[in-house]
Parts: sequence; C-alpha cells; structure tokens
Amino acid sequence: MILVTGGAGYIGSHTCVALAQAGHEIIVLDNLCNSRADVVGRLSRLCGQEVRFVQGDIRDGPMLDKLFATHPISAVLHFAGLKAVGESVNEPLAYYDNNVNGAVQLLDAMRRARIKTFVFSSSATVYGDPASVPISEDFPRAATSPYGRSKLMVEDILADVAHAEPEWRIARLRYFNPVGAHESGLIGENPQGVPNNLMPYVAQVASGQREYLNVWGNDYPTPDGTGVRDYIHVVDLAEGHLAALDYLHRQGGLLTVNLGTGRGFSVLDMVGAFERACGQAIAYKIAARRPGDIAACWADPSRAQELLGWQAKRGLDQMCVDAWRWQQSISRGGGG
Ligand code: NAD
Ligand code: UFG
Repeated sequence: MILVTGGAGYIGSHTCVALAQAGHEIIVLDNLCNSRADVVGRLSRLCGQEVRFVQGDIRDGPMLDKLFATHPISAVLHFAGLKAVGESVNEPLAYYDNNVNGAVQLLDAMRRARIKTFVFSSSATVYGDPASVPISEDFPRAATSPYGRSKLMVEDILADVAHAEPEWRIARLRYFNPVGAHESGLIGENPQGVPNNLMPYVAQVASGQREYLNVWGNDYPTPDGTGVRDYIHVVDLAEGHLAALDYLHRQGGLLTVNLGTGRGFSVLDMVGAFERACGQAIAYKIAARRPGDIAACWADPSRAQELLGWQAKRGLDQMCVDAWRWQQSISRGGGG
C-alpha cells in the first residue's frame, strides 16, 4: 500500500489514479487546506477502488505513527505542502513549517515505522534563473523565494538521509509546469481566488469568469517576447511517479530527475493553443513583467528517459483540451 500525502490536491489526485491503474493500493492523507473532501469520491470512481482517506496533517507525529502501525504501507509519495510563490514571500514561516518541518516530521515517522521508500515533489524552481536552457539536473541550484528555498532545503535533507542510511530509496522529482487535467473531467486543478498560474487563468477567461489575461511582459529575450515554460500534462507527470517508484524498487539509492517535456512554449503559444481547444478568442493585454519571473525555462528530460524509461507523451493541444473540459465541469459545479 502506498501513502499519498496531499493526494486530494492537483498532482497527487492524478497520481493516485495512475497508481491504482497500475494495481497499487493507496491511502490518501490530506488536511484539505487547499482541496476538498469530495475529490475522494470522484477519485474512488476513477480508481475503481474505495480510496482510503485520512484527514490529517503531515506534522502530526502521533497520527502518522498510528497510520503506519495500522496499514501495510511500503512507500510514501509526498505531495503535501504549500506552493504559492508570492504568498511564501509574505508568510515564510508558514512555508518552512509546512514544507520543511512537515517533511522532517513525515520522514521521522517513516523511520520509526521502518518505511524507507520516499518520493518527493520538488520543482524546477530549484534552478532559480538558469544560465541557459535546456536545464539538466547538474545545473546549479538557487532559491528566489521562501517557497523555492523550502524545496532546496528538503532536497538537501533527503540527500543527508540517503547518505546516513543508504538503505533508503529516495526520489527527488523536479516538476516543470504541470497543466491540464484527467480526460474524464472528474479531477483537475481548481485554485481558490485569483489564479497565479497561467493555465487556470486562461481557462477562467475562456469560461467568462475573468475579462482578460494579463500577459506579464512581452520584452523578454524569447521569440515573441513573452515568457517561455515547459508545460507538462499532469497525467504524464503522474506516470513519471510510477516510473520513479519502479526505479527505486529496482535500484534503490537517491534519484534526482527532471520531469518535463523538453519543449518550451511562450505565453502567446499557450493562448493560441487554448483558443483552438475552446473554439473562442482569449482576450489579453500586455502588462509589465511580474517581479521574480524568468524569461525561459525548460527541461533536459534525457535523464528521466534513460533511467526511468519515461517520457511525456501528451502534447499542447491535449493539455488545453483537457484543461478546458475540466474548466467547463467546474463552471457547471461538477468538480473541484
Ligand atoms: P495542491 O495544493 O493542489 O496539493 C497539495 C495538497 O496538500 C492539498 O490537497 C493540500 O490540502 C495538502 N496539504 C498541504 N499542506 C498539508 C499538510 N501540512 N498536511 C496534509 N496535507 C497538506 O498542489 P499541487 O499542485 O498538487 O502540488 C503538489 C506538490 O508538488 C507540492 O509539494 C508542490 O510544491 C509541488 N509542485 C507543484 C508544482 C505546480 O505547479 N503545481 C510545480 C512544482 C512542484
Ligand atoms: N503568466 C502571465 N499571466 C498570468 C500568469 C502567468 O503572463 O496571469 C506568465 C508568466 O509570466 C510566465 C508563464 O505565464 O511567463 C508561466 O507562469 P506560471 O505562473 O503559470 O508558472 P511559473 O513558471 O511562473 O511558476 C510555476 C509554479 C512555481 C514553480 C515553477 C517552476 O507556479 O511554483 O513553475 O516549476 F516553481
């Protein structure tokens, strides 16, 4: 059985589906600070199994001890955490507590229970403002926000744990920009308030919830002047976790890999692709650069391909079609 922390959230829920499809039993631990309990029912439908759900916090050691003592858990996929870059600048302690202390509490409880297989949600944000693209795993790391620093810190803690106790099997997965949703339209990303990220914002413009998109800058040194990112379909990302888990079972040790497509698309490319998907124009205005943004960021995904035999399969159009289907489902009051 696999424990999925943050399994009610965006990436965790899609990974639950991939795990269940591969025959794994799963149990979700989530405090629902950024998700809703009704995801679990939809997840059970998609997984074809009653998904066990515990509402609780990864920082609650006694609860974790009980959870590990009463379930045959062999591995932990750790998605739970806070992820809003801007918020982390204003509330750094909340980020260090949730993301760093939370990971330490979880690892310590695993150690007490002698469970030593761990997959961590890291981020391309650990590369800071990269000197060049594509970005490979040996690029220097730098944090540009407390959120980013919390990821760097946990990556380092994991390296220390792997060094001290080589029997641990640990994956540090550096996600690029996850977008899209499950093709069923039953699960997806449903941010609270005004979306920070491009894709949910564009989807809300398409559904009439927002008037227009602000394009944060068109004077970057990129082909059309707008920011370029490596958007990866969330189901491809979910499948990357399965491949990482298989790798850990085969090889053990400490694995660090990028999960991206290896292709960069600009903000205007994304707007165009979404227009094709939803069949209508997306209104946008060019605005000033967003502080802290970088010009371009995309992965060199060759290590994941070589070590995991994994590569992203779903293209930009599918990302947008699936995001649009999900957005319509939210607008009808169906999801999220
Ligand atoms: P999400 O907010 O949708 O999911 C995180 C889940 O964790 C939520 O359901 C939330 O309720 C839960 N949670 C938060 N703190 C918790 C705690 N202390 N105890 C128990 N549950 C808690 O976010 P997501 O997009 O699915 O991201 C998952 C992970 O991937 C995060 O660690 C995030 O930092 C990382 N990541 C995300 C992105 C992205 O763009 N979405 C990119 C890189 C890395
Ligand atoms: N953008 C806009 N308008 C918007 C939102 C975004 O023009 O309303 C632009 C940004 O300037 C950027 C691109 O769209 O050029 C992507 O922005 P996102 O906010 O969607 O994604 P980021 O690459 O800035 O950040 C994301 C996650 C971070 C993570 C990082 C690297 O939000 O948590 O990817 O993985 F650290």
